[in-house]
Amino acid sequence: MTSINDLSNGEIEAVFSLAIKYLGSLSDKARTYRVAKGTSAANGKILACLFYEPSTRTRLSFESAMQRLGGSMISSADPSASSVAKGENLADSIRMISSYADAIVIRHPRDGAAKLAAEFADVPVINGGDGAHEHPTQALTDLFTLRREVGTLKGMNVAIMGDLKGGRTVHSLVYALVRFGANIMLMPAKGMELPGHVEKRLRDEFGWQSKDVHAIDALYMTRFQKERWTGKVEGYAKVDAQFLNDPRFSKARILHPLPRVDELDPVLDSDPRAVYFRQAAYGVPVRMALLTLLLGLGKTPTLEKSGRKRSEVKDSHDRYCPNSNCITHDAAERRFATNKFYVLKAAGTRLRCVYCETDFD
Ligand code: NCD
Repeated sequence: MTSINDLSNGEIEAVFSLAIKYLGSLSDKARTYRVAKGTSAANGKILACLFYEPSTRTRLSFESAMQRLGGSMISSADPSASSVAKGENLADSIRMISSYADAIVIRHPRDGAAKLAAEFADVPVINGGDGAHEHPTQALTDLFTLRREVGTLKGMNVAIMGDLKGGRTVHSLVYALVRFGANIMLMPAKGMELPGHVEKRLRDEFGWQSKDVHAIDALYMTRFQKERWTGKVEGYAKVDAQFLNDPRFSKARILHPLPRVDELDPVLDSDPRAVYFRQAAYGVPVRMALLTLLLGLGKTPTLEKSGRKRSEVKDSHDRYCPNSNCITHDAAERRFATNKFYVLKAAGTRLRCVYCETDFD
């Protein structure tokens, strides 16, 4: 599962139904959004967490989820302590880890790295964030939070603020929201607009139309992704009590994938509209459910191992992905990630990189 679009709406519903079951049957009486006990569904199974970038929530909630399912994990969270420091490429690492574990979660600074990993793995690969491309399990958690804390997604007005260019959580979330019929309002920081190809895809493939909305049901704030930009940022908006005085936000629930830096005032932590810590807590039951379905545990249906087949794929020797952060431009990985593109039928001459999904004419 390297993109949120690898899961159908029905599969996302299946993840949510199971997550609700875990929350209901195993919730902590004191904090009902927390899964307190475990099951033994994943007994004997091993999850490998392969993190080439810092992480707190994603890695620890996956580890917590796997343990609460009765399974165990092996983790590599510090590239300088693994063979990456000796120059080992991702494809070789993945081929071996496939024989050590039953599923792999990967986080990597390059867009499309998770797709490359999925090509070389013979166990399910879950994208825990690949460069600025996507972060689909965060989007599942975000969507689950909106459902539980705000209501039905169809017709929900969701404002998305901050670094919409560098923020991979946003890129997965906008597809999911539009697919479930929510209205999205894009409120980027200056120069940090949603990438043109993502916006085009939202319109062309998912029928998104921007609408004027007066009351916002949920506000999804994001931090400036300093690791994906050079230079400093100025004039980045801050969500605080004064900002929320705007009548459009009077009832808006506040979400944030975290970590927050300066863009979200801690004064709001006690505001009844703040749901970001519960959002982080929901990451455990959602990931428990996803793992259960991906590993085909018990009587649950099984999700596909990785991306579904989309359109025709064209190998190319003379075309290169225009995204300079794509895994196909990494000197060490290039030998394994060849130039491959989906041919977008509707547009005829438009290609989409198989790895980072950047489109170009
Ligand atoms: C996000 C990420 O790593 O993309 N964090 C997370 O997984 N909750 C968001 C971020 O780093 O800003």
